[in-house]
Amino acid sequence: MRPYIMACINERPSTRPSCAGRGSEGLANALETRLKQAGVAIEVRRIRCFGSCELGPNMRLAPGGSFFRHVDEAALDEIVEAARKALAETPADESSDDDNASEAETVPNPDFPPPF
Ligand code: FES
Repeated sequence: MRPYIMACINERPSTRPSCAGRGSEGLANALETRLKQAGVAIEVRRIRCFGSCELGPNMRLAPGGSFFRHVDEAALDEIVEAARKALAETPADESSDDDNASEAETVPNPDFPPPF
């Protein structure tokens, strides 16, 4: 599976801590910019809560990768490098953006040849 980054952008209207309350949406946008500038083609997926809100802003390299807690602008370079390493370690046959490409290519078209 192609790696991606999960970024919590959960916001609570209460006084309880939340990643968005600590600037996570801006950090997710900044991370996308830095990834692009670094030539690291990895998706940043916004999610709603890892359940460790007191430690936010939180991000995670997925699937199954490192958590990044208390993320700030200075931490984004570390995340970019982790993403670069994860992509480099991903087998070429798993690094496609289109996970269904091989299946789609093998499904016969029932309308071809035309019935006349
Ligand atoms: S609000 Fe981000 S982990 Fe809960």
